[in-house]
Amino acid sequence: RPIYVLNGPNLNLLGTRRPEVYGTTTLADVEQNVRARAAAGGWEVEFRQTNHEGVLVDQIHEARTAGAAIVINPAAYTHTSVAIHDALEAAELPVVEVHLSNVHRREPFRHTSYVSLQADAVIAGAGALGYELAVEHLLRTLEG
Ligand code: DQA
Repeated sequence: RPIYVLNGPNLNLLGTRRPEVYGTTTLADVEQNVRARAAAGGWEVEFRQTNHEGVLVDQIHEARTAGAAIVINPAAYTHTSVAIHDALEAAELPVVEVHLSNVHRREPFRHTSYVSLQADAVIAGAGALGYELAVEHLLRTLEG
């Protein structure tokens, strides 16, 4: 079973975008760490980033076809996207939602997540480590 790690808008800028909020780790570093952790458990990883909402929907459909587990940081679409909520609902897959920052300690518009309604677990504020914790959670809960 593959793990799809899906990243939304502006996360391609990770490492240089507001490092005081999002840290200095790049998305390439995140990918490397996630791959290492998943490989240790014998899992394949599809690691993606897009700035486009519809592309994220397509990627969730692809994960559905593959029968994958999903780790998703939908970034700003977390707080706005009914389409991503609906795609996750249709997929019926294990889902872990990740945010680098603690969204609950930030602006009120970040306190609402459409994605959390479809997530089995939510990790926020652990920085780049959150992705590894998400993979760890999936490995432990899905492998028993
Ligand atoms: C984010 C939090 C979102 O509110 C924000 O729009 C992002 C990144 C995070 O990882 O902390 O782009 O998802």
